[in-house]
Amino acid sequence: MPAWFQCPRCPDRSHPRFANRVKAPLELEIRIATENDRDSIEQLIFLSARELSRGYYSDEQIAAALARVYGVDSALIDDGTYFVAEADGMLVGCGGWSKRKTLFGGDQFVNRDPERLDPGREAAKIRAFFVHPNYARRGIARALLARCETEAQRDGFNSVELMSTLPGVEFYRASGFSAANSILYDAGGVSLEFVPMKKALRGSSNMINANDNWGGAANA
Ligand SMILES: CC(C)(COP(=O)(O)OP(=O)(O)OC[C@H]1O[C@@H](n2cnc3c(N)ncnc32)[C@H](O)[C@@H]1OP(=O)(O)O)[C@@H](O)C(=O)NCCC(=O)NCCS
Repeated sequence: MPAWFQCPRCPDRSHPRFANRVKAPLELEIRIATENDRDSIEQLIFLSARELSRGYYSDEQIAAALARVYGVDSALIDDGTYFVAEADGMLVGCGGWSKRKTLFGGDQFVNRDPERLDPGREAAKIRAFFVHPNYARRGIARALLARCETEAQRDGFNSVELMSTLPGVEFYRASGFSAANSILYDAGGVSLEFVPMKKALRGSSNMINANDNWGGAANA
């Protein structure tokens, strides 16, 4: 493993972690994920979680998250609201949004609620963002999130919410989300800290305090 993977919180932009940022701008294509992408998405999630979670979660926690929480949610693929990002001829990112109540977790996750959300009252869910470790900090998650927010707003939602992993918090904060108090999720006897986060969509008059009216806790 390259040494720079051991320092995921390092703010030093001269650090080798950020060496790929001097490369030419990415030619990124974002498209709707299909069933045919499933294997590639699962591989990407595995790699992303394993490498980009170091320093935030222990190896045991990463393994538990991969076994019990992270993964493809078929409902999003069926709804056409899950996206993949491709660059350099490979899949480098994935992420989506949902008009259903399930807040997080792949098909294997136990707490699921496929009921449709009410866009007038409830927040759309931002779901399962994972970026290839060799392509981190190149704006891929930002581009995926922009697509999700645009579509959620087009469908009448005024706000979006999610349950963030610890490695995701700074990304979502930088993207305008505010955080509520973290929760501990029991993944088969292994405790995982997650952070509920919420954001009003542009043009919406909603003022968001992530600790208020938190609709997601019931799903956690
Ligand atoms: C969280 C994650 C999706 C971010 O993807 P990314 O493509 O690297 O993010 P972006 O390049 O679009 O980042 C946009 C901005 O978010 C902020 N940001 C992203 N990652 C950050 C980090 N590790 N530390 C601090 N700020 C960060 C920065 O402000 C960044 O802009 P900048 O690079 O110009 O400074 C990625 O780190 C990942 O896949 N992590 C592992 C899986 C995971 O935990 N996913 C979250 C599920 S809820």
